[in-house]
Amino acid sequence: MSLAELKKTVLEIAARGKGILAADESSGTIAKRFAAINVESTENSRRDYREMLFTTHGLSDYISGIIFYDETLGQKAKDGTPLVDILRKNNIVPGIKVDTGLTVLAGTDGEKVTQGLDGLAQRLVTYKEMGARFAKWRAVFNISAHKPSVLAIDTNANLLARYAAICQEAGIVPIVEPEILMEGDHSIERCKAVTEEVLHTVFHHLYKNKVVLEGMILKPSMVTAGEDCPVQATVEQVAALTLEVLLRTVPAAVPSINFLSGGQSAELSTQHLNEMHKLMAHMPWNLSFSYGRALQAPSLDIWRGNQQNVPAAQTALHKRSKLNSLACFGNYHGHME
Ligand code: 13P
Repeated sequence: MSLAELKKTVLEIAARGKGILAADESSGTIAKRFAAINVESTENSRRDYREMLFTTHGLSDYISGIIFYDETLGQKAKDGTPLVDILRKNNIVPGIKVDTGLTVLAGTDGEKVTQGLDGLAQRLVTYKEMGARFAKWRAVFNISAHKPSVLAIDTNANLLARYAAICQEAGIVPIVEPEILMEGDHSIERCKAVTEEVLHTVFHHLYKNKVVLEGMILKPSMVTAGEDCPVQATVEQVAALTLEVLLRTVPAAVPSINFLSGGQSAELSTQHLNEMHKLMAHMPWNLSFSYGRALQAPSLDIWRGNQQNVPAAQTALHKRSKLNSLACFGNYHGHME
């Protein structure tokens, strides 16, 4: 492992005021997103959509890394340029989702475990040759009266740590993503307790697996009330409780924390990040975004598979990226919408 290589990649991704665009939807997930706008999901339509996103003029002012799905890493733009090269020319670091999805964890009441460790070391060699310099692995945790179970937390945390260790051996920066899902009617206090337990367990396993914290990025969910909870938290509460949990659980050696949006609206995701920076001027880590839906949703809605809509869709992505960049300094205001 070359720590210098990992640190160089982290430094580029964790540039102040820049975030990550998560464009790594699996073929199944992107098909669902396309179905909502009446676009058939084919190799070409997926390529056209992602080419539209990646060629947005000025994107690299606010986006330092983009996460690809396996298929996209080998795809070429319509003019034959590999999509990876479009990023590299713009100083955006290409990354790759390496987990292979979720399955039911035996011994639990339908909780999920993330798959993909088999053959990972070999896949990383290929991905690196194709241009990827960082990777992502997502674990999910459901909240209910008895979930997440100790078994689900421990198993997923251990897998995240093993994945991260394998990535670092290969000179690839691991994004460690433990996502507490918003599904359910739980209170924000319950989400806070679960998030704290999950993050403590994840960092325990990262330590046991000798993962170098300086060479990784954490991608957590924010602390929110469940989406069906009758009492929704204010922006100030989400920001305060999320920061409290992160300060308790994430060592200062971790260079960057980049949130997922997890189904929050584009505006709320920006507001929450902004509020955290307003609450705390100096944090131990870089605190930014790695949004999928919260960055893409407005552009996807405009694009609708129509080439004529590309400029407007790109403008929408540029705007969301810029607003989230401003939020990284606490400089976002609602009137900018
Ligand atoms: P969302 O921001 O849409 O949650 O996507 C981020 C991501 O990468 C999920 O794994």
